[in-house]
Amino acid sequence: MRQFVVAGNWKMNGSLEANAHLLEQLKSQLDNTTKAEIIVFPPTVYLAQIQQICRDTGIKWGAQDASPNRPGAYTGEIAVEMLEDFACEYVLVGHSERRTLYHEDDVMIAMKFAHAKRHGLTPILCVGETLHERKQQVTETIVKKQLDAIVNLADSTDVFKHAMIAYEPIWAIGTGLTASPEQAQSVHHAIREHVATIDKTIAEQLTLLYGGSVKAANAASLFAMPDIDGFLVGGASLDAHQFVEITQCIK
Ligand code: 13P
Repeated sequence: MRQFVVAGNWKMNGSLEANAHLLEQLKSQLDNTTKAEIIVFPPTVYLAQIQQICRDTGIKWGAQDASPNRPGAYTGEIAVEMLEDFACEYVLVGHSERRTLYHEDDVMIAMKFAHAKRHGLTPILCVGETLHERKQQVTETIVKKQLDAIVNLADSTDVFKHAMIAYEPIWAIGTGLTASPEQAQSVHHAIREHVATIDKTIAEQLTLLYGGSVKAANAASLFAMPDIDGFLVGGASLDAHQFVEITQCIK
């Protein structure tokens, strides 16, 4: 049985006050009708606060990024070992904003993915194509290339065990445009098939999230697709009501 997940990527948003308010709302509004694991990804400086508020709740937390290196002389970076201090279980790897704004390439992302796994964190690898690439009909080629970078650095066939993949078409992120359920399903299916060429059982059990303008209004139709196991939500995760409604689609 695959794990269903609704994750909120807060990006560079929040404050001590706003986080406390949002989490209190989530704690009081989330109910056990959802079958999803709920994860929040706050800015790293707030992890201590999130740990304090969420520790005895069903809400899990993770980091939006982490260094591929061991602690040392890397000004501005956060080591995976530091995330362990705050009981993080998850880390996003290769979000398109990191790829485009901070020029992270496939090799860097593969190193981050491998390093997080080595330390027992569950990496959520983000993949996706630009609008230009979609128009050129090379979406699957791009996504497979992003997956292969991870596989090529790994030394075993269980590379996607204890990991998740989020398909986030770049043209749908923060734009209000969402991939249709059929468009998303087709890429999710291609991802699962590709992973199956490495390990069939892992592919079957792999949680595949969709991200890109997910809202309460479109979540149910996306989740109805057989290869969509949940969501990585940006903007709507800052609104407790929207986020809770999205979790309620996962039944
Ligand atoms: P939006 O939901 O704001 O489009 O962001 C998606 C995303 O980038 C989640 O990681």
